[in-house]
Amino acid sequence: MVEVSPKGTVAYEVVDRIAWVRFNRPDKRNCMSPTLNREMKDVLDRLEFDPEVGVLVLSGEGTSWSAGMDLQEYFRDVEKEGLAGVRKAQRESYGWWRRLRWYQKPTIAMVNGWCFGGGYGPLLGCDLAFAANEAQFGLSEINWGILPGGGATKVAAELLSFRRSMYHAMTGEMVDGAKAAEWGLVNESAPLAQLKDRVTQVANILLGKNPVALKATKDAMRRVREMTYDNAEDYLLRAQEAAFYYDGEGRKEGLRQFLDEKSYKPGLGAYDLNKTKV
Ligand code: ACO
Repeated sequence: MVEVSPKGTVAYEVVDRIAWVRFNRPDKRNCMSPTLNREMKDVLDRLEFDPEVGVLVLSGEGTSWSAGMDLQEYFRDVEKEGLAGVRKAQRESYGWWRRLRWYQKPTIAMVNGWCFGGGYGPLLGCDLAFAANEAQFGLSEINWGILPGGGATKVAAELLSFRRSMYHAMTGEMVDGAKAAEWGLVNESAPLAQLKDRVTQVANILLGKNPVALKATKDAMRRVREMTYDNAEDYLLRAQEAAFYYDGEGRKEGLRQFLDEKSYKPGLGAYDLNKTKV
């Protein structure tokens, strides 16, 4: 059953352990207002430790994923409230993007249409990203006279080569989903009509993995990017041992099913979670 946030800016439903969360302002091309930012945080809170949810997919209602920040409500209206208002709005938007980056469950951005400016925050926030070939991505900030703030410049620098990120930010030119995949902004692109099937397929792969190991893996992948090799080696050793605190049996079961039961091969797929009592 589709649930809608109190002010209607976010819609979500949980089907077969996948939480399908949607920006829900299609008339405004899903641009992010302070209300949407607040409601999205609440929805993420509500779903994060829900045992019915194993994977979260973020997509957009209508023709857009997100047309970035709401230029009326997030910029013009908030600026009238002075610095306190501006900082509050920033905390609320950056806050839920940060929540996504370190979310308990694996997350997938399913970019069904327009993705501009501030939309790059939640795009990077999601662990994986799949786009429609028809989607369009742009750092349009330069087109209306600002630099790509709110982390957008960092996202482009993080995901794209120097020349590509520089061109993308300085020209404001869009790339479509196929080009975004070629550039590494997203994992893959597919025709819009097939996008949901492909994302469901990937979500189901994740649902078959040990959830404690998945959370440890995704955090580790983000953390080690900024570490030296030696620091990463040390962090990973400790992260692995810390994961045993929440799941002391998973790896033993994985080893048991391979070495004793010979019921699967780790190189070819995951052990059977249903035989574990995590
Ligand atoms: N902020 C505020 N309102 C917006 C935004 C936005 N980011 N994007 C769309 N809207 C509104 C439009 O003003 C319009 O409102 P109205 O119906 O009340 O006039 C409605 O959404 C529909 O938009 P259209 O422009 O008519 O839709 P169309 O499908 O023709 O174009 C497109 C879609 C290309 C996304 C266009 O709306 C657009 O360029 N939006 C702005 C994109 C952008 O640059 N975002 C800011 C990035 S910078 C940042 O996030 C910091």
